[in-house]
Amino acid sequence: MKTFLAVLLLSSSAWAADQLPDGPGKATLIKVCTDCHGAEVVTGMAHDRQGWKEIVDQMLEKGATADEKQIKEIIDYLAKAFPKKSR
Ligand code: HEC
Repeated sequence: MKTFLAVLLLSSSAWAADQLPDGPGKATLIKVCTDCHGAEVVTGMAHDRQGWKEIVDQMLEKGATADEKQIKEIIDYLAKAFPKKSR
């Protein structure tokens, strides 16, 4: 039973990581942002840098823990990986 759960957990986080394009900051995002939910909350979203900054700020208020360097890496990564689509 324990093994089964571990496999389930591993495969679900691997799935989320698959949806994230490679790039600097990806590992930091996974480390900081998957404590409370999966990384899939950010996939499919599209924001400019300011929009992502606001989301990350909200997460910090909810209790996400990251230092300034990590926060910048995450915002840079998100703004590049999931940019606001131009009309
Ligand atoms: C301390 C727990 C926690 C951490 C850590 C955390 N979040 Fe969240 N996040 C939440 C909760 C709770 C929600 C559910 C939305 C709500 O209740 O407002 C959420 C929802 C979201 C959503 C969906 C918002 C929407 O409008 O649908 C996004 C995007 C998101 N988080 C991104 C991030 C990012 C990026 C990070 C890393 C910087 C992060 N989260 C880290 C708690 C957390």
